[in-house]
Amino acid sequence: MPMMRRPVIMQRIISTAFLLIWSITLVAAAATQKKPHMLAPGEVGLALALALLLALAKRFPLRVARRTRILLDVGLIFTTALVFPAPWSVLVAGSGTLIGMALNRRELPHIAIDFAVVVVEVFSAQSVYVQLGGAIPFQFESRLIVVPLIGAITTMLAVDRLLTSALLQYGPYSVWRWFKSRQQPLTLHVALLLSGVYLALLLQTHPWSIMLIVPSITLVYLSLQASLRKALGSMTLEAVETLADLIDRRDSYTAGHSARVAELAERLAVEMGLPRDEVETIRAAGRVHDLGKMEIDTCILTKPGRLTDDEWEFIRHHPIAGAEILSRFAGFASGAKYVRHHHERWDGRGYPDGLRGEEIPIGARIIAVADAFDAMTSDRHYRKALSLDLVVEEFKRGAGTQWSEDVVAALFRILRQENTNLGEVGVLRVAVA
Ligand SMILES: [Fe+2]
Repeated sequence: MPMMRRPVIMQRIISTAFLLIWSITLVAAAATQKKPHMLAPGEVGLALALALLLALAKRFPLRVARRTRILLDVGLIFTTALVFPAPWSVLVAGSGTLIGMALNRRELPHIAIDFAVVVVEVFSAQSVYVQLGGAIPFQFESRLIVVPLIGAITTMLAVDRLLTSALLQYGPYSVWRWFKSRQQPLTLHVALLLSGVYLALLLQTHPWSIMLIVPSITLVYLSLQASLRKALGSMTLEAVETLADLIDRRDSYTAGHSARVAELAERLAVEMGLPRDEVETIRAAGRVHDLGKMEIDTCILTKPGRLTDDEWEFIRHHPIAGAEILSRFAGFASGAKYVRHHHERWDGRGYPDGLRGEEIPIGARIIAVADAFDAMTSDRHYRKALSLDLVVEEFKRGAGTQWSEDVVAALFRILRQENTNLGEVGVLRVAVA
């Protein structure tokens, strides 16, 4: 049998220890329950509904960024602790958590730890709440209920934070990272626990209100998720634009190049009828298409004579380097792909991957045309800008070999709309459209 890696052994020891804690807690809960309270049929329905809601909350966290998410299950776990006596509270919260984690296809150590934490949290919070005079199921009959509620909320927070910090101190790296990713800011944690109190109150007075709660939570969740995705997308595009400004400042010769490529790429994408989101990604990718050139020495970039093989190797690596940096931006995966492939050729003789034809993503095909157009129509270190006639000739020659015919046709349509005096363009447009 191959030797087991040390982190794996550590993970197993920790998960076993937590499972032990859970078992002892459950046995203790059962032992203190002198007359086991059987749930009424209505309570069973409520218990099942809460377990299901909990599993869904676990399965669909609100994604704020690539490694940051808000878990809405905290409030529901607290509701369970206030509504059902042990061991039912532990059973409902534990089973909801287990189902949610299993649906998330988490690894066994993660499931075991999360399950154990929830069980310990529920049992401890409920014990403190009852000891301080709180009634199960939750009743809001006197203002003195504030004391057991504060005790229970503090216990939930303390148990979660203490167990978390214990894992941060002694747990292996992978568990540490996972646990850190599920930590919430303290204010949000308290807000979620308070919403759990409101829910418990509502369920006591109007149990059927759960029928209303499920669609309202779902709608709030969906709209929040959509707003977050939109906000994240626009923040990403702003960050990408800032990067583009940095590149432009580096070399006075190419200052403005990426802005012009982005503008033309956007017009081409609109001309080709691409969706608005796609157009914006292509525009942003156009602004940073040469980001990878930051790694290349300026002497090579501005060298007037022939490049050596090694120097060419550096140049040919810039799409990969740029895409690697951009892939770290959440929500910009397709933009990173466009940057990686902006030097591919339609006939497969481009770089870095030698993709051909339709294999090349549409955004990359568009940026390639915009990049070439701007290169030809701008003054370079080694030559003056070409005349528009010569540029058109060049594109006619390269359509179908170097560039996509569709994109070149879109370019010519734009040039015609600009009232450029290019009689030949119309002929080509018909030929390639
Ligand atoms: Fe490039």
